[in-house]
Amino acid sequence: MKPGNRPIRNHRFREGNGANSCCACGCGEIRSGRFKPLFYQQPHPLLIGEGIFIYRGGIVVRRIGVGLLGLGTVGTGVFKTLESNRDVIVKRTGLWFEVRGILVRDTGKQRRVAGIQSLLTTRFERLLEQKVEVVLEAIGGVEPARTYVERALVAGCHVVTANKELIAKHGVELERLARQKGVQLLYEASVGGGIPILGSVRHLLKSNRIHRFSAILNGTTNYILTKMESEQVSFAQALADAQGRGYAEADPSADVDGVDAAYKLAILGRLAFETTIPPAEISCRGIRDIALSELALARLLGYRIKLLALGVQYGEKGPISLQVGPTLLPLSHPLARIEGVHNAVRLEGDVVQDVMLVGHGAGEKPTASAMAEDLCNVFLLPGDRQDSLAAATLLPPDAGGSRFLFLETRESIPAEAIPALRETLRRIGLAVIDMAVQPKDGNCVAMILRRWDPSYPSVLLAELGFNVSRVIDRPVFGVGIEETAEAMLETTIS
Ligand SMILES: NC(=O)c1ccc[n+]([C@@H]2O[C@H](COP(=O)([O-])OP(=O)(O)OC[C@H]3O[C@@H](n4cnc5c(N)ncnc54)[C@H](OP(=O)(O)O)[C@@H]3O)[C@@H](O)[C@H]2O)c1
Repeated sequence: MKPGNRPIRNHRFREGNGANSCCACGCGEIRSGRFKPLFYQQPHPLLIGEGIFIYRGGIVVRRIGVGLLGLGTVGTGVFKTLESNRDVIVKRTGLWFEVRGILVRDTGKQRRVAGIQSLLTTRFERLLEQKVEVVLEAIGGVEPARTYVERALVAGCHVVTANKELIAKHGVELERLARQKGVQLLYEASVGGGIPILGSVRHLLKSNRIHRFSAILNGTTNYILTKMESEQVSFAQALADAQGRGYAEADPSADVDGVDAAYKLAILGRLAFETTIPPAEISCRGIRDIALSELALARLLGYRIKLLALGVQYGEKGPISLQVGPTLLPLSHPLARIEGVHNAVRLEGDVVQDVMLVGHGAGEKPTASAMAEDLCNVFLLPGDRQDSLAAATLLPPDAGGSRFLFLETRESIPAEAIPALRETLRRIGLAVIDMAVQPKDGNCVAMILRRWDPSYPSVLLAELGFNVSRVIDRPVFGVGIEETAEAMLETTIS
């Protein structure tokens, strides 16, 4: 292969597979038969071993073969990042990542990156034949991703994945396999996209006992709720808008039904509380049933409704409560101010007190950022040392605490009726913190009840005598949260 029109001396070009055929030292690439220097170093970098050379400024650089599974949104982002930020990565880490093969479903598809045709394959085996040390998984779903990840680990490759469903459902056994094989399995991109949530828990909060985290882990639903509230549009209109902007899939179920957030909660909960958490056991509610009038009444009472993922551990090695669902946050709570597609997590530890991280929870670049960081960290940071995880004692949902109750009635309720309503509720033993009726036609009433019991709605409806078309109850965060804890523990113990 000819080195193009540049007079480069002493470079030894390797015959290979096109785009990534490089000079053996890694100082450039052959693209379309021409040599493209990546570093203008003079003299020629000094090869000091197989795949190791001295780079500008005397940095010892190690070349690492990488196999990429998937070239969709995330795969494309990762490929582009490794190319565009190679100089930064090399300078800071001494690692030169070279993508040696890309697994896709259809090699004939139009791609958003040029010059990669010869790297594409539909055969997983071909990837492993390219001497790859790390496999980056960006296919999604459980199969065939799980089989490929297992085969990569068995072959002695480290694995970096963005796949929340795979890690939530099979992360424990895959991590065990990785430990047995002496390699790493990292999955920062699976929770909160570009926000370094898992790395913070794993590496930066090691001396803390994390006892609670609250998070907005799904950008699609946060966008929909923000849009509904700010522009007074229905759930269906906000969803259609999100789909038009590419924030929601054609089938939005995983996002709007809370399943995506539940996978992420299972992963974060496992790391934070060092326990196994089957995602199917997480109490999960979505946002499909949220009406504009409900958002408005919550706001009148001083709250915002967010799809909150909440994990609380009551005492060291104590029972755990995990839930995903629309939750009322006081307007003053920092998570109540997270708008649009942003994600955020608030971690509470015994020493650090609280830490909040905010950023882009999805998208090509933020997700690629998390995967590229993991890729570097495989070689820079210590791996997982947790040999066995205890099974979690999960508390039942709806076990107590403060609740927001929203009633849609067939007749109008005037605001003047509130004192009488309060009195009725007090008489039957329900402590109401606050109450509001819809200002205009008054056919919605909402209240914050101090302590919740699933039998309350029927008692309440019988006593109030309203002709009710819909009753919704939601947890309230921040009001009586400690009571929630006590109530949950009491329910579990009794
Ligand atoms: N998109 C995001 O913002 C985001 C954020 C965080 C995490 N993630 C996670 O990242 C993963 C990938 O998401 P994505 O949005 O990039 O998906 P995507 O755009 O649909 O891309 C999937 C890629 O995987 C390939 N693929 C699918 N099934 C395959 C199979 N059986 N064999 C070989 N290749 C196969 C596809 O090949 P073809 O191109 O040939 O069809 C495509 O290139 C998922 O686990 C997702 O949950 C995504």
